[in-house]
Amino acid sequence: MRTKILTTLLVLGLFVISGVDAAQVKTNIKKQSFGKTADGTPVDLHILTNRTGAETAITNYGGIVVWLKVPDRKGNLGDVVLGYDSLDGYRNDKAYLGALIGRYGNRIAHGKFILDGITYTLPQNNGENTLHGGIKGFNKQVWQAEEIPGPNGPALRLHYVSKDGEEGFPGNLSVQVIYTWTDQNELKIEYSATTDKDTVLNLTQHSYFNLAGAGSGDVLQHQVTLHSDHFTVIDSTLIPTGEIRSVQGTPFDFRTPVAIGARIDDNDQQLKYGIGYDHNWVLESGRSDAPFLAAQAYDPHSGRTLKVWTTEPGIQFYSGNFLDGIRGKAGKIYNRRDAFCLETQHYPDSPNHPNFPSTVLKPGEHYHSITVYKFSVQ
Ligand code: GLA
Repeated sequence: MRTKILTTLLVLGLFVISGVDAAQVKTNIKKQSFGKTADGTPVDLHILTNRTGAETAITNYGGIVVWLKVPDRKGNLGDVVLGYDSLDGYRNDKAYLGALIGRYGNRIAHGKFILDGITYTLPQNNGENTLHGGIKGFNKQVWQAEEIPGPNGPALRLHYVSKDGEEGFPGNLSVQVIYTWTDQNELKIEYSATTDKDTVLNLTQHSYFNLAGAGSGDVLQHQVTLHSDHFTVIDSTLIPTGEIRSVQGTPFDFRTPVAIGARIDDNDQQLKYGIGYDHNWVLESGRSDAPFLAAQAYDPHSGRTLKVWTTEPGIQFYSGNFLDGIRGKAGKIYNRRDAFCLETQHYPDSPNHPNFPSTVLKPGEHYHSITVYKFSVQ
């Protein structure tokens, strides 16, 4: 009896010392089948639950965040990312809902760039330009997945090897992405990569957020803050002209919180080219080793807030202008401006702009980049 009591006390003591409490025990990762690709490769859905009960589901098809359920002001969980109910939705998707994007996030003009004197030609899948890595980018690839029950919350490690010449890009590229869903409701995304030949690389994550809940209407009343003084000016095909313009006195000034809809239909050539916001904001701190606060969004109705930290030198703020009646989760329809994206990245078309921060990766170098999406209420 005495031994039993002592053992119980010892076990309790160990729990206290190691900081494990009853709530933390709930942290878990569940894996379930998410169907098969066209060639019969099985893919999974990994459901990561943190100790608060908030959860995200990620599939190793395209590294896609399928759902992300976080509390509103009243504590009710709501799914704040657009997506589909099944793998078929993602296989047919053209809007990159929730996906990992590579090798080159955003656009490369005319599907061409020169590196070390060699001209590389890429598939032109967006008018005359290449968008988000080409016809079969990282968003349509099956990644190797490994669940890691990390100390900061459940995590999923994804790995993909992109072969030399895939979608026209040089070098065998080994890419790893670790998603951690922390107990503070942060989705931390850590990218790393190595190559065996000089190449260009610009990885990002393409979740579409609606903090009032996916499919609940437009996001025009969400208030956005972008910690940036400049943006890259675009032409009619959304390619940077090379000009880096001050946001001062323009509808691109989000240095203090402004509703997305407040100026989106202003008579402004840049807004017309983007059909709204679809631009890269320059993050003044440049590329840094530690993530810094780049952007915030707040939905006054639900009280949900999203803050974005990154080590990247740019952020594409896209107001969902091309959403055109997509049938998403639970049969809900996603129309124009029903969500927004905050894609942390290097500037669009950097391989053709020597004055932009370089996206070149060489053998022996380690690509490393961190972005954190943190959800809270206000
Ligand atoms: C990015 C682009 C947009 C659009 C979406 C996908 O955010 O900047 O122009 O192509 O991807 O639809």
